[in-house]
Amino acid sequence: MRKSKTQRVAGRTPAETRAEMSQVVLPNDANPLGNILGGTVMHLIDIAGAIAAHRHARSYVVTAAVDYLDFTRPIRVGQVILLRSEVTRAFRTSMEVEVKVYLEDYIRGERCLTSSAFVTYVAVGEDLKPIPVPPLIVHTAAEKRRYREALGRRRRRLALAAQARRRCEQES
Ligand SMILES: CC(C)(COP(=O)(O)OP(=O)(O)OC[C@H]1O[C@@H](n2cnc3c(N)ncnc32)[C@H](O)[C@@H]1OP(=O)(O)O)[C@@H](O)C(=O)NCCC(=O)NCCS
Repeated sequence: MRKSKTQRVAGRTPAETRAEMSQVVLPNDANPLGNILGGTVMHLIDIAGAIAAHRHARSYVVTAAVDYLDFTRPIRVGQVILLRSEVTRAFRTSMEVEVKVYLEDYIRGERCLTSSAFVTYVAVGEDLKPIPVPPLIVHTAAEKRRYREALGRRRRRLALAAQARRRCEQES
């Protein structure tokens, strides 16, 4: 019998959610010093992360939170920016995705990590209401470690979100 597209799956592995994106940095992406804009990197992180979340949830997703992000090295016009993403843990309706950003200097044949971020996406239906996602099935030691650690990160980000909400309520 053929499987229906909507049939529930037991879960997906991080490898099934993995995405890779790359592009050459052009002058339009850069500041006057010729380095890629932080906002452009954030935009690409969101896109790369969303692809992994879509692959896991097979639904629409919205970005709920981006954890701490820094830029350790400038990526210059003419270099390649490469992003790799995968789901590290799925909760009820939300998923944590790790996105790593690399600069690739194709003349020198060098590649190095410049940023990494954990982004939370929530699967939503057409009415924009959260919907459940399948579990993430982890196998390797590294996948299991990231899966375990994701719980602590979730607790911290939800505590920060609650704090921010209280501040907003006090100011309004
Ligand atoms: C994200 C959003 C769907 C959550 O809706 P909500 O009514 O708070 O729904 P719930 O309280 O049921 O939370 C749904 C999930 O989101 C998670 N969530 C909500 N706020 C979060 C935050 N700040 N950080 C991480 N996760 C968050 C909850 O933990 C829950 O996850 P779980 O089901 O896996 O436990 C809603 O806040 C929203 O639509 N935000 C705007 C998203 C957006 O426009 N993003 C930018 C453009 S895509």
